[in-house]
Amino acid sequence: MIATVLPGPADLGAWRSAARGLLGAGVPPEQAEWRVAGDAPGLFAGDAAPPAATSPFHVPRAFVALAEIAIRHRDPERFALLYRVLWRLTHGEPALMQVATDADIVRLEAMAKAVRRDAHKMHAFLRFRQVETEAGVRHVAWFEPEHHIEEAEAGFFVRRFAGLRWSIVTPRRTVHWDGQELRFGPGGRRQDVPPDDAVEPLWRAYYAAIFNPARLKPGAMRAEMPRKYWRNMPETAEIPRLIADAPRRAAEMVARGASLPNPNPQKPRHLPPPSHVEPDMDLLDTAADPKEALAALARELAGRNDLPDFARRATQLVFGEGPPGAPLMFVGEQPGDEEDIQGRPFVGPAGRLLDRALAEAEVPRGETYVTNAVKHFKFEPRGKRRLHQSPDAGDIAYYRPFLLREIGIVGPRLLVALGATALRALAGKALPVMKTRGTLVEGPEGLPVFTTVHPSFLLRVPDEEAQRREYARFVDDLRAAHARVA
Ligand code: URA
Repeated sequence: MIATVLPGPADLGAWRSAARGLLGAGVPPEQAEWRVAGDAPGLFAGDAAPPAATSPFHVPRAFVALAEIAIRHRDPERFALLYRVLWRLTHGEPALMQVATDADIVRLEAMAKAVRRDAHKMHAFLRFRQVETEAGVRHVAWFEPEHHIEEAEAGFFVRRFAGLRWSIVTPRRTVHWDGQELRFGPGGRRQDVPPDDAVEPLWRAYYAAIFNPARLKPGAMRAEMPRKYWRNMPETAEIPRLIADAPRRAAEMVARGASLPNPNPQKPRHLPPPSHVEPDMDLLDTAADPKEALAALARELAGRNDLPDFARRATQLVFGEGPPGAPLMFVGEQPGDEEDIQGRPFVGPAGRLLDRALAEAEVPRGETYVTNAVKHFKFEPRGKRRLHQSPDAGDIAYYRPFLLREIGIVGPRLLVALGATALRALAGKALPVMKTRGTLVEGPEGLPVFTTVHPSFLLRVPDEEAQRREYARFVDDLRAAHARVA
């Protein structure tokens, strides 16, 4: 037996160089033992020193990509499993990665999936508490990841909260960001993190405000937001009360019917809103054309290495949504704060207003396709807030080829430009919205483009009378667009 001791639990570089040495020396998988420094040796642990790394070997890119994620899994067998797959790839099974039913590949894929889920939960459910220190305010969060994801996910929080000083404490690691430099330390204890702070009531109020009693699905809520995360999330204190109250509130909503939008929607902006919506990777991966074509297009765009800088600061790509073949396709500007968190277009204040107007115009949103000209949230960090920044001509031009391909896959009969950015992307040149409104201009592949205002324009109209008028005009526009394809 040859024992390899790795310096860290998810150190792919160290594993790779050890694996190279073992492979070069012809050590078969069953002769190799793996552990992490500090772990107890196994029962049959050998003490022969691992061979030094020899010349590099070539393996499929798919293996490297999978290994990068799967190595973060907590299963102590992960290193041995990776080495076994590597051995097989280099000993007569070069196409092993394509054998989706192979037991080793199935196991590695399952590990990678669990790690990705864990990362998603960390992004969605980690909550910072504000702490006063001698050096000023610091934000501290406690989180219990299931896998070794702290190092890998630190970059997400740096991009997201670049302007703050924060620490994330987990049982195995601490991660510190001082605005300049990222540092890692040993794990901490839950009691090291304060349980409460001033923004807690805002979280609770925010959660109560976005909770939709008519769409209550306690089973799905529990599956998506397991109870173990609840104690770190202030808003979950509201859940039992909201669930108990849901039937009464839903009945009230039905009785009340549609109402006019609130001109000044208030929501606490001190922290980003929570997300309870996770894209279903399995569904996307197995869906038939053209859904698969849309999913592949989204993956292609998300994986580009020349994305604009602001896209790298966004939480995720927000792609279009709706049934392929929808006759009406709405195109907005770019995802906002809530869209960026949830990964879905038009789910924030402008989206809720669009929903209301669509309902009033008797246009079922589910039968339309809704997307944006720019697919990442462009914002300027201001303390804990993220201020919307309009995309410029270069941003619009960057995403335009993808928008055109998206249109090609969906195949709408009419495109609806919501505001100036969408109109520019669809017409291929800048046109004045107010002059173009209600008319048809030529879009990609000669498709007609119908123009109206962006719903956020309505949210900014100051006086109530003008707001009613503008809202009614917007509903008329939606009705007119719908009539053209009906
Ligand atoms: N504004 C947009 O243009 N798109 C969205 O998805 C949300 C707000």
